[in-house]
Amino acid sequence: MPIIDSETSQVAETVLSAYGIEPASLTQHGGGLINLTLKVVTQNDDAWILQRLHPVFPPAINANIDVVTRYLAERGACTPRLQHTLNDALWVEVDGQYWRVLTFVPGRSFATPPDLIHATAAGKLLGAFHATLAGFSADLPCPRPAVHDPERHRAALIAALATHPTHRLHGEVRKLSGVIANQLAALPALPVTAPRLIHGDPKLSNLLFDAKARPLCLVDLDTLTRAPLPFELGDAFRSWCNLSAEDAPTATFELSLFAAAIAGYAEAAGEFVTATEASAIVPATEIIYLELATRFAADVLNESYFGWDAARFGSHGEHNLCRARNQLLAARALRAQCHDAARIVIRAFQAV
Ligand SMILES: Nc1ncnc2c1ncn2[C@@H]1O[C@H](COP(=O)(O)OP(=O)(O)O)[C@@H](O)[C@H]1O
Ligand SMILES: [Mg+2]
Repeated sequence: MPIIDSETSQVAETVLSAYGIEPASLTQHGGGLINLTLKVVTQNDDAWILQRLHPVFPPAINANIDVVTRYLAERGACTPRLQHTLNDALWVEVDGQYWRVLTFVPGRSFATPPDLIHATAAGKLLGAFHATLAGFSADLPCPRPAVHDPERHRAALIAALATHPTHRLHGEVRKLSGVIANQLAALPALPVTAPRLIHGDPKLSNLLFDAKARPLCLVDLDTLTRAPLPFELGDAFRSWCNLSAEDAPTATFELSLFAAAIAGYAEAAGEFVTATEASAIVPATEIIYLELATRFAADVLNESYFGWDAARFGSHGEHNLCRARNQLLAARALRAQCHDAARIVIRAFQAV
């Protein structure tokens, strides 16, 4: 992982001093798209994660992470914990940017599942996370807007098209927007289900595994919220079952990975999931692909949210156009197999 530039490293050292941590090395860590994530190692070989929060998140979300990870840890679950500063603060502000420190969990994360064993382990990890948090009844200190709200994201895409009429990729985004809208319109409305405490962004890179493919913990807890479970599961399966990178020119929906993951999930979550929630998993997965395609498409024009790779793409817009197309292709791949996927869900929950 690359060593970071001297300016960032100076700020990082200032932040770490609030925690009484003296870094011996600071390196960029993981492949996150949103926060800046640094691994800190001290002279004594203690390791920490230092993160600069993306401006889209208010720093008060750290209070959610603090209470939820404490709850998980008290129940014996592996989890990163939010470190408090020497003055008992949950974050540090430097020049209007917010930084936090988390305990480092030695584990590996993947962009796509290396095999079926990891897919099952991912399912078990998320199932255990949900089932454990089912007992967390307190309000979150910093309530968050729904992560998944296809209509809100649709409106944002329409607004982006109106705001950037002269953007060089406007025509491409307009075409894409029409195709996404048609595919969404062909889906049934999802049943109404009770809100659950969910992770909010359970893509595979936010799950850590040990070297033997055993599940460790979920990271990236900025999006903790209460929301319908089918969207959370749809978000997980849309990430875990598309073997292509999110920005590849092709996309798939791998039924074998889906079967492995849902079997792991059903085993760990067990009776926590209602029949209505289970019945909505497959259409919710397709909706999440389309919602994400919508968000990437809006960012092609807004050029403000998702990170981009200047080594592989000419601009922020081009990288996100590629991501939007990838998600749309995956949605189509799932649509073609949706009946088989629905049968797999029924079998997985019958077995528990
Ligand atoms: N507490 C932690 N311990 C070990 N690795 C972590 C921890 N938190 C994050 N990571 C690693 O850093 C990556 C990026 O962090 P994440 O919180 O997911 O940021 P982003 O919001 O940018 O995706 C993760 O995919 C994971 O590999
Ligand atoms: Mg992440």
